[in-house]
Amino acid sequence: MSTATPAEPLRVVVLVSGTGTNLQALLDAQGASDPTGRKGYAVVAVGADRPGTGGEERAAGRGIPTFTVRLADYPTREEWDRALLENVSAHTPDLVVLAGFMKLIGPEFLRTHPTINSHPALLPSFPGAHGVRDALAHGVKVTGCTIFWVDDGVDTGAIIDQRAVRVAAGDTEETLHERIKVEERVMFVETVRGLAADRAAWLT
Ligand code: GAR
Repeated sequence: MSTATPAEPLRVVVLVSGTGTNLQALLDAQGASDPTGRKGYAVVAVGADRPGTGGEERAAGRGIPTFTVRLADYPTREEWDRALLENVSAHTPDLVVLAGFMKLIGPEFLRTHPTINSHPALLPSFPGAHGVRDALAHGVKVTGCTIFWVDDGVDTGAIIDQRAVRVAAGDTEETLHERIKVEERVMFVETVRGLAADRAAWLT
């Protein structure tokens, strides 16, 4: 049980599958107090679903514990789910942040740990693994990014925040995704700071 004026930073475990620029933004901003002096958050561990991710490297460079739980190392999806849950739980997080983690999370994990995710499109439009590509192919003029509470659907959980990004003439999936990620990094930091400052509203 947490309080509105917590003595300790919110304990955050971040899960990544890729380069980890959102993780980097979270690492750069951690520990800062909000304007009223309430404590922020601390990234206490970073996990990945594959070895050699840029995200894990960024964490290790800061001396933050890392772990890797590879699906291929487990005979069933359920056993991988359980291993991921055990590795994350070992760091006793208040909040789990999926920052470019490209795997679905099992139901027991979600019952155990409040978990947020970010998606590079304005949900509920363009859910799934190719949000940027699908928005571009549809011809939208504005897209963006969404942070939401993870539930047992695919990108269906309650929306916490969104940022809009205009599609430019000549955008490719890569150029558009890079501009979305600029907004996404700011949104991630503001969201996690906000959840840390007001944890009584969501952490039971
Ligand atoms: C981010 O744009 C994030 O929204 C996306 O992966 C990127 C990770 O970038 N996640 C998903 O598409 C999840 N469905 P990063 O590795 O540079 O933080």
